[in-house]
Amino acid sequence: MWGKKCETGLTHKKKIPMEVKKIACIGAGYVGGPTMSVIAQKNPDLQVTVVDLNAERIAAWNNQDVSKLPIYEPGLGAVVEEARGRNLFFSTDVERAIVEADMIFISVNTPTKTYGKGKGQAADLKFIELCARQIAAISTTDKIVVEKSTLPVRTAETLKSILDNTGNGVNFHILSNPEFLAEGTAIADLHAPDRVLIGGENTEAINALVQVYASWVPRERILTTNLWSSELSKLVANAFLAQRVSSINAISELCEVTGANVDEVAHAIGQDSRIGSKFLKASVGFGGSCFQKDILNLVYIARSYHLHKVADYWEQVVLLNDHQKTRFAEKIINTMYNTVNGKQIAFLGWAFKKDTNDTRESAAIYVADHLLDEQANIIVYDPQVTAEQIYKDLDGLGSRPPAQNRALLTVVSDPYQALSGVHAVAVLTEWDEFKTYDWSLIKQNMKRPAFVFDGRKLLHGATLQTLGFTYYAIGE
Ligand code: UDX
Ligand code: ADP
Repeated sequence: MWGKKCETGLTHKKKIPMEVKKIACIGAGYVGGPTMSVIAQKNPDLQVTVVDLNAERIAAWNNQDVSKLPIYEPGLGAVVEEARGRNLFFSTDVERAIVEADMIFISVNTPTKTYGKGKGQAADLKFIELCARQIAAISTTDKIVVEKSTLPVRTAETLKSILDNTGNGVNFHILSNPEFLAEGTAIADLHAPDRVLIGGENTEAINALVQVYASWVPRERILTTNLWSSELSKLVANAFLAQRVSSINAISELCEVTGANVDEVAHAIGQDSRIGSKFLKASVGFGGSCFQKDILNLVYIARSYHLHKVADYWEQVVLLNDHQKTRFAEKIINTMYNTVNGKQIAFLGWAFKKDTNDTRESAAIYVADHLLDEQANIIVYDPQVTAEQIYKDLDGLGSRPPAQNRALLTVVSDPYQALSGVHAVAVLTEWDEFKTYDWSLIKQNMKRPAFVFDGRKLLHGATLQTLGFTYYAIGE
């Protein structure tokens, strides 16, 4: 195999030593931070350095008070406390970490392109390319380079080409090791993954990474494939999961007009072992940094190979999700006598799901935008999301001047303050604490009729109705 072109088109020049002692991870975000923390926790003999250009983020990772880490993730603080300073380091010195590492994980962001060819669909690989060029420019020893970010299929080829053509003659081995953790349960997912997937062409490089995970993951759960299967599997896993959510959300609309209850339908079909019970919770729409982006990537790839039927099929998952968000906003407007102008609507939750402070593609952003177009006044409470982030999300849509967003939407840190005197409450995120509120007291302090729009089917509808609320939940 050495020196020959393998079937994937990548060239392996010569055998390289594969003992890994030092790991660098470029990108200290929602993927890089937790993943490297667990790798360091479970491999005390490995030195793991996570680097990022964002000095503020690195400072937060180094904060001695682990409740101030840059991402909110249950269980993360304890892992960081155990490993940080021992064999886990967070730094802005990207160059040094690259030069010293035997293995480099690339965990930078790959947002959907907002310009040029593939705008709105293809992944923007500029951050990946910058990393590859930097690695190539300064590496003086052989490296295993691991793609951790979600990437379009065949990105490894691009990486390899940049590394080989701009490098100093050292050997680079590319592996794909997609991350399957879900935010909010990242630490549990990392500690006991359903599977770890490693794609690559070089057995020794693959084995080196297998060893890292084998410290705590049963060997039979570590799958190895070729590079392209690994890259594609990540997109397909997310597409299948998102498709389930869009499928049940489509049925939620049908339930609302037929008198069926979507939870009952989901439970009934989920009992079929061929279908399974997970990812059948109807909601205001899926969000997060991965689902939409990965499906659009899949759509873009399919279209670029002229597979238009395939592309149309998957695109529908995203279109249905957009429809679900719009439908929820319109339900609020229609129910409130076709106008929300000047009315106060409390939003419970802004994060894209519970137990995270991540708001990327959160349904709340789009529902708020729709209601603000109708001149509603929104008061937001989320236990983990900052006001700064909420305004950033809204301003990012460019629907109206930032000053207007601030005039129409306020953010409060006390839920009872958000709920006092409002015309309606909308549940956008399924935070557990919302269930524990004193809904009788809330009712007393709300305008009449007191509307609750439950976008997560979180609250106990019958109880709220007994208390006198006009209660609407998705799919009922
Ligand atoms: C997802 C994948 O699950 C994970 O494997 C991958 O690594 C990254 O993308 P994440 O986006 O963090 O993880 O969260 P996930 O739990 O998948 O939820 C995504 C969205 O779907 C959330 O907005 C969630 O509220 C929504 N959802 C999920 C539903 O509306 N109903 C469900 O039944 C499940
Ligand atoms: P993810 O959810 O994929 O982890 P994030 O946006 O949370 O995405 O994190 C990606 C991180 O990568 C950001 O903190 C960003 O500053 C960092 N980053 C992007 N490009 C580079 C680069 N060339 N060098 C170092 N860090 C980078």
